[in-house]
Amino acid sequence: MLVIALCKGRFLEPSLDLLARAGIRFSEDVASSRKLIFIADDQSFRVVLVKPADVPTYVEYGAADIGIAGRDVLLESRADVLQPLDLKFGYCKVAVAGPNGTRAKARDYIADNPTVRVATKYPRITMDYYNARGIPVEIIPLSGSIELAPLIGLADRIVDLVETGRTLKDNGLEIVEIIAESSARLLINRAGYQTKRDEVLHLIQALEEVIR
Ligand code: PRP
Repeated sequence: MLVIALCKGRFLEPSLDLLARAGIRFSEDVASSRKLIFIADDQSFRVVLVKPADVPTYVEYGAADIGIAGRDVLLESRADVLQPLDLKFGYCKVAVAGPNGTRAKARDYIADNPTVRVATKYPRITMDYYNARGIPVEIIPLSGSIELAPLIGLADRIVDLVETGRTLKDNGLEIVEIIAESSARLLINRAGYQTKRDEVLHLIQALEEVIR
């Protein structure tokens, strides 16, 4: 039985829909249940529900053979997993943002405080971005409602996901620069790709057909 790690939250419904169209269905209502493990009707797959940022970890360590996660969390985790498929949903961007007017400033630092304080749930992506530009940065790690930080003086900038742009707009923030484009990806454990090759390849093929 292959174990598939799915994200709780906004990726769950499209992930379940994709699996259903590939023939993997569940008699239970996975999205509304509080359970964390589900067996597919054909007994070939077990789905486990985890936090989005934890999917790469489950797959890298082999607790799950397969996972579905955003490219954003993959970039942040740097997990050593195979990524054979872009699943063509969950499109968004990882972007630097700040209060309206920030983009017009010539350089991304504040004159009397040359270290930029950046609130984010992507500390590695943020560090890489600022290091590559030689800009001193203080990372302020947060796990949600990142847009609040510059509004109440906790940070100068944020690095966060932007999907529709509505959260930024409604809070008087704007994109300064897009760091990466993201979408949902299929992740495969490297060892499992060898030891369960037939089952894994069969699933990849079924998903490819659905996406096409
Ligand atoms: C994500 C992200 C932004 C928002 C962007 O947050 O961190 O806050 O979605 O979406 P938008 O561009 O469509 O407005 P999420 O809803 O996952 O909650 P969080 O604040 O707890 O991270």
